Amino acid sequence: MKQFTQFESRELGQELIDLGLEYKFNPRLDIQKGQGKRIGCIFLNPSLRTRVSTQIAAQNLGMEAIVLNMDKEGWALEMQDGAIMNKGTVEHIKDAAGVLGSFFDVLAVRAFPTLTQKQEDLSDFVINQFIKYAGIPVVSLESAIRHPLQSLADMITMQEYQKENRKPKVVLTWAPHIKAIPHAVANSFAEWSLGMGYDLTITHPEGYDLDESFTKGATLEYDQSKALEGADFVYVKNWSSFQDYGKIHSTDPSWMLTQKHLVNAPNAKVMHCLPVRRNLELSDEILDSDRSLVQVQAKNRIFAAQAVLSKIIE
Ligand code: CP
Repeated sequence: MKQFTQFESRELGQELIDLGLEYKFNPRLDIQKGQGKRIGCIFLNPSLRTRVSTQIAAQNLGMEAIVLNMDKEGWALEMQDGAIMNKGTVEHIKDAAGVLGSFFDVLAVRAFPTLTQKQEDLSDFVINQFIKYAGIPVVSLESAIRHPLQSLADMITMQEYQKENRKPKVVLTWAPHIKAIPHAVANSFAEWSLGMGYDLTITHPEGYDLDESFTKGATLEYDQSKALEGADFVYVKNWSSFQDYGKIHSTDPSWMLTQKHLVNAPNAKVMHCLPVRRNLELSDEILDSDRSLVQVQAKNRIFAAQAVLSKIIE
């Protein structure tokens, strides 16, 4: 595996899920594997889970992890090739990524979308500039359009909690929010769920359709209560409009999941990638109940990252 930026195949997905579960059972199984290797974790945006879980994953493999909060500690990067750098940017990505590529064996990058430059975001411009100039394997810590390490952790979590010997019903439900939120988590969750063969229903208010290149094969249901009927896993996430790019069209509080919403899904487990705005996106009564898998998902971020790094340094 040379890069980890998106879902590739069901076969590789299953291999990573199984390896992640093996590491969960025995985190130091491959403590020798990464000896002498170094990963650089470059954050252009804030993080709690991704930052710490990737560091722990690297340590579990015997690797050294160095974190650079580029947004606060690094030089302002120029991303555009051929730019005349007479404005605010100080260092070109070509130079910075080249240097980082010579310092590390693996580079991991978080780069959120602009939510204003749709075509640039859709091309995953920033992470692809790192890939172009670093010359070493790159792992996405969340890009403009995908969050694959989160989705791998989510797939590990669903496999762990899939009790019955039947295909579970998975529902991705939009939740209200006061800020314009990227599509990456929702896109990736759809991409991985469908890729791994899950039966996925997506529900959201009209005007919130996701990019169909991620959702092809899913059932779209605008009626949230109908969508939730018989659900086994309910993934709660806000995203801003994709059509009217980056805009907020609804903050309708009736979309926030409560126990009442799950009256026809008595066994449903509820997932969210965190951070979550309590009682705006998701109610206390759900988050603090036995239905909630949010802490399991967060812990599984370690083993998802460990499985990916283990394959990358193989
Ligand atoms: N879920 C997730 O990516 O969390 P952080 O933004 O805190 O890393």
